[in-house]
Amino acid sequence: MMLVNVADARQAARRRLPKIFFDYIDGGAASEATLRANEADFARWRLEQSVLTGITAPDLSTDYLGARRALPFMLGPVGFLGLYAGNGEVLAARAAAAANIPFCLSSFSVASISRVAREALGESMFQLYVLKDRSLGAEMLRAAREAGVETIFLTVDCAITAMRERDLRNGFRALTRLTPGLLARLALHPGWCLDMLRHGMPQVEALAGHPEFGRGVLAQAAALSSRIDQGLSWADLAWVRENWPGRLVLKGILSAADAREAQAMGADAIVISNHGGRQLDGAASTIAMLPEIAAAVPGLELLIDSGFRRGADIVKALGLGASGVLLGRTYAYALAAAGQAGVARIIEALTKEIEISLALMGCGSIEALKAEGPRFVRPA
Ligand SMILES: Cc1cc2nc3c(=O)[nH]c(=O)nc-3n(C[C@H](O)[C@H](O)[C@H](O)COP(=O)(O)O)c2cc1C
Repeated sequence: MMLVNVADARQAARRRLPKIFFDYIDGGAASEATLRANEADFARWRLEQSVLTGITAPDLSTDYLGARRALPFMLGPVGFLGLYAGNGEVLAARAAAAANIPFCLSSFSVASISRVAREALGESMFQLYVLKDRSLGAEMLRAAREAGVETIFLTVDCAITAMRERDLRNGFRALTRLTPGLLARLALHPGWCLDMLRHGMPQVEALAGHPEFGRGVLAQAAALSSRIDQGLSWADLAWVRENWPGRLVLKGILSAADAREAQAMGADAIVISNHGGRQLDGAASTIAMLPEIAAAVPGLELLIDSGFRRGADIVKALGLGASGVLLGRTYAYALAAAGQAGVARIIEALTKEIEISLALMGCGSIEALKAEGPRFVRPA
């Protein structure tokens, strides 16, 4: 099937993946109201059409996270990519490198940061959860530094994991090993099974020196989750700042007050995020909060994610004050559907959509869109 857009990638992923993994990617917390709002609220904004401007090839390059990037979006941290496609983390990172955009590796990954840096050769970033055992966190930060990582994302909206009802129903959370029932369900997806078998039993490579986390990605992930520091507070973030001299991005900020705190603690940037509607159900969509947060923290770099499925969604966020956008499910679906080629295809589709939107808006570049946002993006 040809992947014309993200909805196609989602459908193809649904067919290829065992239900337990598709639902893990696709689902959200509780009644999934925030998940739906993330996508629906882009309709609150409209793009201003402007004709006969002579603009044919808008310049999509732009600055965020300390460098000029070819495109205004990057691949954000998504856990377990290596379970959606064999060597999935490296495949996604290669697609990002080919498009000249950054890839951020989740700390819940099969491949280690050093493997991704070695095998993908693009700019890799790393996402960290603060664990109760600070020495393991320090070890992960050391590995990131040794792999050449300059930017880490510290995720702050996931200390307590929400109830995701699809996962409960499918038994995803309780999963620590392959049971006969699960094997029977997996066998219904032979393409995925063969891909996994070719790559051997997936393990969290970063935990290779830690047998206390068990064997196999499922057991290791469960052990890792149970060690996330649920009591983390602003004061604890000083630990991260001390252990990470590079760029520090706080991911999971959704209010002006928290954005101000992030700025005060010395974050270099934030990601306005509700974790793709996977955490606090009933929370606002990120696009709804962006203008208020942008007004509250002038000078703080704002990235954003959650619900971005179209080039026009990205254009709206950039016009409202974001410096760049992180993709989540959008590329995870594509990876599950068609590996590296799938991710490359979806990057290309979004690129084309952004190009066409800007041309039809009479906007010559992402820089112009950022500089004159209210001219191009208006309330609907
Ligand atoms: C399957 C899945 C796994 C994720 N794993 C992580 C993770 O390990 N660390 C993290 O900071 N965010 C994680 N996220 C959240 C994403 O980084 C991002 O905030 C979210 O996907 C954005 O919403 P969207 O998918 O609707 O675009 C995950 C999201 C999904 C869908």
